[in-house]
Amino acid sequence: MEDSTSPTDADLVDAARAALDDAYVPYSEYRVGAALLTSDGSVYTGCNIENANYSNSLHAEEVAIAEAVKVGHASFERIAVSSGVRDGVTPCGMCRQTLAEFCDDDLAVLCDEGDSISEYALGELLPNTISLDTLDAAERTERD
Ligand code: THU
Ligand code: ZN
Repeated sequence: MEDSTSPTDADLVDAARAALDDAYVPYSEYRVGAALLTSDGSVYTGCNIENANYSNSLHAEEVAIAEAVKVGHASFERIAVSSGVRDGVTPCGMCRQTLAEFCDDDLAVLCDEGDSISEYALGELLPNTISLDTLDAAERTERD
Protein backbone atom coordinates (compact mmCIF):
# COMPACT_ATOMS: atom_id res chain seq x y z
CA MET A 1 0.00 0.00 0.00
CA GLU A 2 1.57 3.27 -1.09
CA ASP A 3 1.22 6.27 1.18
CA SER A 4 1.54 9.88 0.07
CA THR A 5 5.29 9.91 0.74
CA SER A 6 5.96 6.81 -1.35
CA PRO A 7 7.62 7.39 -4.70
CA THR A 8 5.31 6.92 -7.68
CA ASP A 9 6.14 4.45 -10.44
CA ALA A 10 7.39 7.39 -12.52
CA ASP A 11 9.64 8.52 -9.63
CA LEU A 12 11.10 5.03 -9.37
CA VAL A 13 11.77 4.85 -13.12
CA ASP A 14 13.42 8.29 -12.89
CA ALA A 15 15.68 6.96 -10.12
CA ALA A 16 16.62 3.96 -12.30
CA ARG A 17 17.37 6.33 -15.20
CA ALA A 18 19.60 8.46 -12.97
CA ALA A 19 21.43 5.37 -11.70
CA LEU A 20 22.39 4.20 -15.18
CA ASP A 21 24.53 7.30 -15.61
CA ASP A 22 27.05 5.59 -13.29
CA ALA A 23 27.16 2.34 -15.28
CA TYR A 24 30.65 1.03 -16.13
CA VAL A 25 30.10 -0.65 -19.48
CA PRO A 26 33.25 -0.55 -21.63
CA TYR A 27 32.39 -3.95 -23.18
CA SER A 28 28.67 -3.99 -23.97
CA GLU A 29 28.11 -0.21 -23.88
CA TYR A 30 24.62 -1.18 -22.69
CA ARG A 31 23.76 0.84 -19.60
CA VAL A 32 21.27 -0.49 -17.06
CA GLY A 33 19.95 1.19 -13.92
CA ALA A 34 17.70 -0.22 -11.22
CA ALA A 35 15.81 1.39 -8.34
CA LEU A 36 14.43 -0.78 -5.55
CA LEU A 37 11.71 0.48 -3.20
CA THR A 38 11.74 -0.96 0.31
CA SER A 39 8.56 -1.56 2.30
CA ASP A 40 9.44 1.40 4.52
CA GLY A 41 9.65 3.76 1.56
CA SER A 42 13.36 4.11 0.88
CA VAL A 43 14.95 3.68 -2.53
CA TYR A 44 18.24 1.92 -3.30
CA THR A 45 19.77 2.11 -6.75
CA GLY A 46 22.32 0.18 -8.78
CA CYS A 47 23.95 0.17 -12.18
CA ASN A 48 25.76 -2.50 -14.16
CA ILE A 49 29.52 -2.75 -13.60
CA GLU A 50 31.31 -4.85 -16.19
CA ASN A 51 34.58 -6.76 -15.99
CA ALA A 52 37.25 -7.78 -18.50
CA ASN A 53 36.54 -11.43 -17.74
CA TYR A 54 32.86 -10.77 -18.62
CA SER A 55 31.48 -13.28 -16.11
CA ASN A 56 32.29 -11.09 -13.10
CA SER A 57 30.07 -8.32 -14.42
CA LEU A 58 27.55 -7.07 -11.87
CA HIS A 59 23.99 -6.42 -12.98
CA ALA A 60 22.15 -3.27 -11.97
CA GLU A 61 19.49 -5.17 -10.04
CA GLU A 62 22.11 -7.15 -8.08
CA VAL A 63 23.90 -3.95 -7.10
CA ALA A 64 20.63 -2.32 -5.96
CA ILE A 65 19.69 -5.38 -3.88
CA ALA A 66 23.16 -5.52 -2.34
CA GLU A 67 22.97 -1.83 -1.38
CA ALA A 68 19.65 -2.40 0.38
CA VAL A 69 20.36 -5.77 2.01
CA LYS A 70 23.74 -4.72 3.35
CA VAL A 71 22.07 -2.03 5.48
CA GLY A 72 19.45 -4.41 6.81
CA HIS A 73 16.47 -4.20 4.45
CA ALA A 74 14.63 -7.45 3.82
CA SER A 75 11.22 -6.37 2.56
CA PHE A 76 10.61 -4.81 -0.85
CA GLU A 77 7.64 -3.39 -2.76
CA ARG A 78 8.76 -2.73 -6.31
CA ILE A 79 11.77 -2.38 -8.57
CA ALA A 80 12.23 -0.22 -11.67
CA VAL A 81 14.72 -1.14 -14.39
CA SER A 82 15.85 1.09 -17.23
CA SER A 83 18.39 0.88 -19.99
CA GLY A 84 20.04 3.75 -21.80
CA VAL A 85 17.94 2.99 -24.87
CA ARG A 86 14.62 2.72 -22.97
CA ASP A 87 13.84 -0.67 -24.51
CA GLY A 88 11.77 -2.06 -21.66
CA VAL A 89 14.60 -4.32 -20.49
CA THR A 90 13.46 -6.83 -17.87
CA PRO A 91 15.70 -8.39 -15.22
CA CYS A 92 17.61 -11.37 -16.64
CA GLY A 93 17.06 -14.86 -15.27
CA MET A 94 19.86 -14.56 -12.75
CA CYS A 95 18.51 -11.26 -11.42
CA ARG A 96 14.99 -12.69 -11.23
CA GLN A 97 16.33 -15.47 -9.02
CA THR A 98 18.27 -12.98 -6.88
CA LEU A 99 15.12 -10.88 -6.46
CA ALA A 100 13.14 -14.02 -5.54
CA GLU A 101 15.49 -14.64 -2.61
CA PHE A 102 14.26 -11.45 -0.96
CA CYS A 103 10.92 -10.61 -2.60
CA ASP A 104 7.51 -12.24 -2.89
CA ASP A 105 5.90 -13.27 -6.17
CA ASP A 106 3.87 -10.08 -6.13
CA LEU A 107 6.89 -7.76 -6.25
CA ALA A 108 6.11 -5.25 -9.00
CA VAL A 109 8.79 -5.08 -11.70
CA LEU A 110 8.57 -1.81 -13.65
CA CYS A 111 10.33 -1.72 -17.01
CA ASP A 112 11.12 1.55 -18.73
CA GLU A 113 9.75 1.69 -22.29
CA GLY A 114 10.60 5.38 -22.69
CA ASP A 115 7.11 6.87 -22.93
CA SER A 116 5.43 4.11 -20.94
CA ILE A 117 6.15 1.61 -18.18
CA SER A 118 5.55 -2.14 -18.51
CA GLU A 119 4.68 -3.80 -15.23
CA TYR A 120 5.13 -7.46 -14.38
CA ALA A 121 4.83 -9.44 -11.18
CA LEU A 122 8.04 -11.22 -10.20
CA GLY A 123 6.11 -14.52 -10.02
CA GLU A 124 5.05 -14.05 -13.63
CA LEU A 125 8.67 -13.52 -14.73
CA LEU A 126 9.96 -16.42 -12.62
CA PRO A 127 7.32 -18.99 -11.67
CA ASN A 128 8.15 -21.99 -9.47
CA THR A 129 11.48 -20.64 -8.28
CA ILE A 130 13.72 -22.51 -5.86
CA SER A 131 13.60 -20.96 -2.40
CA LEU A 132 14.50 -21.52 1.22
CA ASP A 133 11.11 -23.29 1.54
CA THR A 134 12.18 -25.78 -1.16
CA LEU A 135 15.33 -26.65 0.77
CA ASP A 136 13.50 -26.83 4.12
CA ALA A 137 10.91 -29.20 2.63
CA ALA A 138 13.66 -31.40 1.16
CA GLU A 139 15.40 -31.56 4.51
CA ARG A 140 12.12 -32.59 6.21
CA THR A 141 11.63 -35.31 3.57
CA GLU A 142 15.15 -36.66 4.15
CA ARG A 143 14.53 -36.78 7.90
CA ASP A 144 11.24 -38.74 7.55
N1 THU B 1 22.35 -6.35 -17.43
C1 THU B 1 21.90 -5.89 -16.23
O1 THU B 1 22.52 -5.03 -15.60
N2 THU B 1 20.74 -6.41 -15.74
C2 THU B 1 20.05 -7.42 -16.35
O2 THU B 1 19.29 -8.11 -15.70
C3 THU B 1 20.28 -7.63 -17.78
C4 THU B 1 21.70 -7.39 -18.20
C5 THU B 1 23.63 -5.84 -17.93
C6 THU B 1 24.75 -6.85 -17.84
C7 THU B 1 25.70 -6.36 -18.93
O3 THU B 1 26.55 -5.36 -18.35
C8 THU B 1 24.80 -5.69 -19.93
O4 THU B 1 23.53 -5.50 -19.30
C9 THU B 1 24.60 -6.51 -21.20
O5 THU B 1 24.11 -7.78 -20.90
ZN1 ZN C 1 20.65 -9.63 -14.49
